[in-house]
Amino acid sequence: MKVITGIEETTSTITSLKSLNKKIGLVPTMGALHQGHLSLIEEAKLFNDIIVVSIFVNPTQFDKEEDLKNYPKTIENDLILLKKVNCDFVFIPNAKDIYNNQIVSEKFYFDGLENEMEGKYRDDHFNGVGTIVKKLFEITVPTNAYFGEKDFQQLQIIKKLTKQNKLPIEIIGCPIYREDDGLAMSSRNLRLTPEQRLAAPFIYRVLKEIKLNFSTTPISAINQWVAQKFEKHPTLKLEYFEIADEATLITSNERTALTKHRAFIAVFAGSIRLIENISL
Ligand code: PAJ
Repeated sequence: MKVITGIEETTSTITSLKSLNKKIGLVPTMGALHQGHLSLIEEAKLFNDIIVVSIFVNPTQFDKEEDLKNYPKTIENDLILLKKVNCDFVFIPNAKDIYNNQIVSEKFYFDGLENEMEGKYRDDHFNGVGTIVKKLFEITVPTNAYFGEKDFQQLQIIKKLTKQNKLPIEIIGCPIYREDDGLAMSSRNLRLTPEQRLAAPFIYRVLKEIKLNFSTTPISAINQWVAQKFEKHPTLKLEYFEIADEATLITSNERTALTKHRAFIAVFAGSIRLIENISL
């Protein structure tokens, strides 16, 4: 496993491997790696010759300075994990090289996908994600790139970005990897207090119950039920819940036969924000 920080070195190394007909699988991350990230790497290993994992805590996608400052950093452990799963290259750029001393994002229009759900609560977030992912694609020139359904809106936006820019990259979505108690794995889980950690699997229990009742319950009744469940909760505070069309991410008020519906939720445990979703 080789750790690279230089942008030019990364592009030239990968380009020469590609000219030997090697398939390059990229897994972009912000580090603090867990089994969820590793599940993306395992998927990438099935269809690629060379695995590239990027680790970069991207400043432009954080809307709160506090969240960026407190984002967990576990680089030594990350490298141990990556070595264990036989990653070939770890790309760890520094912000100065990526942003050229100008930490600002490009402005994107993703056909409105960016204005739904997370877009309403996290100012400029998807401009930041679009900016860094586009740059990572340019630098690492992957054949395939892997993203988790954990961040389903992000996945749809990256598919859109790739299509709009006609990039010759296949975007592959991977299922949410969960703890044994159902909590979706997330780097932010490291920051939960023991009490919050104990409470957090409640989110998935609610989602599973919605899935179970979706075909027989009006969406308005589901929305009310979720609001009530969280009103009473001592530790978790609901930011939003909605059922939306998987393709457009537009809120669904009614079930329709031809729409693939998915439930999306954002919850605060103290100052830690947790997002999850489930296909219905
Ligand atoms: P990060 O939160 O580190 O996640 C990296 C990738 O791992 C994302 O595609 C995310 O959806 C996926 N992932 C995280 N937890 C997962 C889980 N429990 N199961 C399956 N996949 C999971 O998402 C980002 O970083 C950044 O926005 C990034 C795309 C790297 C751009 O900066």
